[in-house]
Amino acid sequence: MAKRETWATRVGFLVAAIGSAVGLGNLWQFPFKTAGNGGAAFVAFYLIAVLLIGFPAMLAEFVMGRRTHRNAVDAFSELGHRQWRILGAFAVVTGFWILSYYNVVGGWVLRYIVGSAQGAYFGAPAEYFGAVSAGPEAIAAQFVFLAIVVGIVALGIEDGIEKATKVMVPSIAVLLVFLAVWAFTLDGAGAGYAYFLTPSLDTMVENAGTAIPFAVGQAFFTLSLGMAIMITYSSYIGDDDNLLVDGGTVVVFNTLIGILAGLVVFPILFANNIDPALGGGASALFIAVASGFGSLPLGNLIGVVFFGVVALAALSSAISLMEVTVAWANDNFDVPRPQLAVGIGVALFALGLPSAWDVALLTWFDNIAYSLLLPLSVLMLVLFVGWVLAGDAVAELRQGAGELGTFGPIWMWALRLTVPTLVFVTLALGIQTLFLGENPAFFAPF
Ligand code: PHE
Repeated sequence: MAKRETWATRVGFLVAAIGSAVGLGNLWQFPFKTAGNGGAAFVAFYLIAVLLIGFPAMLAEFVMGRRTHRNAVDAFSELGHRQWRILGAFAVVTGFWILSYYNVVGGWVLRYIVGSAQGAYFGAPAEYFGAVSAGPEAIAAQFVFLAIVVGIVALGIEDGIEKATKVMVPSIAVLLVFLAVWAFTLDGAGAGYAYFLTPSLDTMVENAGTAIPFAVGQAFFTLSLGMAIMITYSSYIGDDDNLLVDGGTVVVFNTLIGILAGLVVFPILFANNIDPALGGGASALFIAVASGFGSLPLGNLIGVVFFGVVALAALSSAISLMEVTVAWANDNFDVPRPQLAVGIGVALFALGLPSAWDVALLTWFDNIAYSLLLPLSVLMLVLFVGWVLAGDAVAELRQGAGELGTFGPIWMWALRLTVPTLVFVTLALGIQTLFLGENPAFFAPF
């Protein structure tokens, strides 16, 4: 078998991982959930959730990938736990399932770049969204988005994913800063910031029932965990990277982008007297924020830049998810990567057709993933690394990071107890939401 690929540089891995983490969750969920659940107080709470749950779970995926240099399924055999491969397979299937409808949403975003340039949705944003989000137009847009993803993944780790994300991720940051500066000049800026970040412990406590599960769910969704992405990406890195520093960098960047997104969207909403209490999700971006562009000077240009940023964020996430399946196929079959990417792309397109046909089906796909598959996948994975891999995992983390001191046992016990408990509660709530019809799907990303 040909030599397995690697990232050309450590920065390449970091940028790709940040690109995966920064996605729709940061742009259309985080700002709105923050504003609705106590502003800066919620940010603090969310950071605690990320540190307690997301960070340890991310390290768990990192050590699995780097120790084995294998795809998420075969990593288990490589570790000497062949009978646990089903966990890897579950994560890969979860990712495949999610990508099928993520591509559809990616297609909407591309459509909105064109729509912004033409001013097509300026008059009637809700009607426009209804027209392009489902049916033949959505299928065509899904195809275009998927074709770009396949094209990049087909080029490989170094020449495809690394090169592409090295351009995309800095562009996301620069363009968002540009938009935030522009938003600062709007009439609604002060009111927008106040609405977004004014800390309110009372609101947080009052909304705890929905805010906590959201923060937990978001802590692993936003870091792209449970879909085998971080196992796959870290399987291409060198043995002496400091995984603690790498993980910390991803967490910090990911949070900053979410905050920046809030500094952009709320001034736009307040400048246009649009009700900001949206709860997040597709309509928050595609209808509410979009409707702001129609009445602002240079609205076309700003709209193109804004949806351009969303497109880059969605693309760099979709690429990472596609690579999970491609990596598995590439490690197992003697077929060139481009062919594998195209074949898997065709399968993804087919699975995405129902979602592109009807938004209600997309929501169903998403609910299953978000309430069931993802938490289950994270749960099994952290239990495996905490209880089965245990000492080997700590040894792997030590490599490149040096002596861990008390962090080693703290990390282990987080994986064994804290993370599983919190994820289990989220899972129970998700199942209740899905099957008993109680509580609206408050932590679903769409
Ligand atoms: N971290 C991504 C986000 O916040 C989640 C994701 C990654 C979704 C990859 C799909 C594919 O949007």
